[in-house]
Amino acid sequence: MRKPSVFVTRGIPEKGLRLVLESCEAEIWSEEIPPSRHDLLQGVRGKDGLLALLTDRIDAEVMDAAPHLRVISNCAVGMDNVDLAAATARRIPVGNTPDVLTDATADFAFALLLAAARRIVEGVEYVKSGRWKTWNLQVLLGADLAGRTLGIVGFGRIGRAVARRAQGFGLRVIYCDPAVAQDPAGTPTSLDTLLGEADFVSLHVPLTAETCHMINDQSLGRMKSTAVLINTSRGPVVDHDALYRALKARRIFAAGLDVTEPEPLNLDSPLLHLNNCIVLPHLGSASQWTRDQMALLAAENLIAGLDGRRLPHCVNPEVYDITR
Ligand code: GLV
Repeated sequence: MRKPSVFVTRGIPEKGLRLVLESCEAEIWSEEIPPSRHDLLQGVRGKDGLLALLTDRIDAEVMDAAPHLRVISNCAVGMDNVDLAAATARRIPVGNTPDVLTDATADFAFALLLAAARRIVEGVEYVKSGRWKTWNLQVLLGADLAGRTLGIVGFGRIGRAVARRAQGFGLRVIYCDPAVAQDPAGTPTSLDTLLGEADFVSLHVPLTAETCHMINDQSLGRMKSTAVLINTSRGPVVDHDALYRALKARRIFAAGLDVTEPEPLNLDSPLLHLNNCIVLPHLGSASQWTRDQMALLAAENLIAGLDGRRLPHCVNPEVYDITR
């Protein structure tokens, strides 16, 4: 029997790749840079399945290039790169990779919080540039955590995992999430109150029309001048021009960004010239175990869809209610 054909838009860790190759005839985009739009449309043409990364825009045009497409497996938890409505309208189940990256991403958000609060990157530069002449009581002073308030915007899996870590640092946790009325891990509040009260603000919302640029001139204006902003969610949640203005004028103390708009961030972005802004290349889930598990889940979703089974992690389960 012919194996189903799939397009895999980038090299994935061995654990997932092996599974894909066992069950499928796979065309794999093995370049470091993602396929161009043209190459994506070419690659998916005539395929039964698609395993994509968050760098690929999977919209109606891509789906229509593969009229027999039976499954889209996104190797990420965030789904803003996939047009879910278009997939559902075409009865294509879409899978993601939740849970396995929760702890790694929460660890990373906390690492960024500590690095921005305690000026770790500036400290490294201080040593490397030869400015470290002696121990000095007044050099590179940062922000304390114990007894301060952490405001978590978006209290889903990752937001709650950040709250658990905050306990160990003696932080009071407040959160804003219209979907979570009560949670023992923190005190619910409105976004405006959170921004006004928090010493640290950490963003954990999905990117949607509502959350795009939710951190803008107005919201940054509500924050304390001593506050630190951390973004490990999606770049466009923060208006970068507004953030630059706030950081430059020291209207907030510092920011740590693991995600940017666009990605990669343009090298001429003024954010890269600020010493109170740390920018990292979207590394939240980048630990060995986590990336192996993500690849495995993505492969399992792909193969389930090709077999006509329910995806283990389906983000548009309503496809299973549509009568054919
Ligand atoms: C990473 O950002 C993910 O959504 O998995």
